[in-house]
Amino acid sequence: MSSEDSTGAADAASTAGGHLPAGSFEGKTVVVTGGGTGLGLDISRGFASLGATVVIPSRSPDNQAAFLEEAADRGWKAAGRQVDVRDASDVRRLADSIKDEFGPADVLINNAAGNFVCPAERMSSNAWRAVLGIVLDGTFYCSKEFGKQMMRGGDDDAPRGGSIVNIIATYAWTGMAGVVHSASAKAGVLAMSKTLAVEWARYGIRNNCVAPGPFESDGAKQNLWPSDDVEQRIRESVPLQRFADRKEVAAQVLWLASDAAAYVTGANITIDGGMSLGAGRMWEPGQRLERRRRPGAESS
Ligand code: HXC
Ligand code: NAP
Repeated sequence: MSSEDSTGAADAASTAGGHLPAGSFEGKTVVVTGGGTGLGLDISRGFASLGATVVIPSRSPDNQAAFLEEAADRGWKAAGRQVDVRDASDVRRLADSIKDEFGPADVLINNAAGNFVCPAERMSSNAWRAVLGIVLDGTFYCSKEFGKQMMRGGDDDAPRGGSIVNIIATYAWTGMAGVVHSASAKAGVLAMSKTLAVEWARYGIRNNCVAPGPFESDGAKQNLWPSDDVEQRIRESVPLQRFADRKEVAAQVLWLASDAAAYVTGANITIDGGMSLGAGRMWEPGQRLERRRRPGAESS
């Protein structure tokens, strides 16, 4: 495949990047934490198909292999890195090594997460810390280190600017039984995102969130809906009666990171088929909702 094809329309059409002009991220360094699996993989594929150099830090190189192989086949610019985002000094080393090899980051997607269902009263302090560490601490450490790279080093040492997108979940504001650690952490990330949107606007750094409803991933299947019955029940609770397609979620992330969203900061895009509205819970869909006639009233 020629290098022209590698960022061309055909490539973008087969990934989440089809709605943006070819080459939208040419010359950009994009970091997608956990970018080798699940939603992160579709986000990485979208950015790479639009010309970015995509780095996908996570704990396990095995989880990065599929994207790196695909990138090699398609002529995309991509690299793996091993990191535990819970460790601030590990994240600092990661940021330095990416800057040395690919230049400062232009885009950061805080996608890495950990989760499992556990009643709050039985949750150990280590279990709480594991999820808070990945989601809340990890998002802050990455935002801080890559944010610093976006602040400096433009022409005449002006701020370079950049874009940070955080993947949260709608239970950040609705709450959800069984995931107090993740809900608390995602709520923290939402507050962090709005705070940094204001604090770093003067550096040209935008900070936004995407809140998907449920979608299929190995991590979610193992930790959140281990049986087909549970999965089916969750599916039926979505007003649009299906899970999100990972590519349609990734498309929102790419849009927020792109120049098309240059005036959007501190925002959240919810893409959940209406699940978080909760408005369907009181009456079953299809149930007759006409007002009962008063006794003795004439029927029309
Ligand atoms: C109770 C559990 C547990 C479980 C782990 N722990 N799993 N407690 N129920 N199912 C406890 C352990 O016993 C331990 O506490 C502590 O948590 C840390 O466990 P480790 O195995 O040492 O953790 P670690 O290796 O650091 O793994 C992190 C992890 C794991 C979060 C526990 O699940 C993980 O790596 N997940 C990554 C993938 C993932 O979760 N993807 C789903 C994303 S979906 P003790 O006290 O025993 O030491 C999502 C949003 C979905 O985030 C939204 C849907 C609407
Ligand atoms: P996933 O495939 O399980 O991905 C999680 C990723 O995070 C993995 O690549 C994992 O890689 C990485 N990771 C976990 N702990 C890490 C750590 N300590 N340091 C660095 N990387 C770490 O999950 P997913 O379902 O696609 O979820 C992606 C995002 O969407 C998450 O933010 C999740 O909360 C959110 N979300 C998911 C759903 C859903 O239904 N699936 C719904 C709403 C929101 P390693 O194991 O190699 O570290």
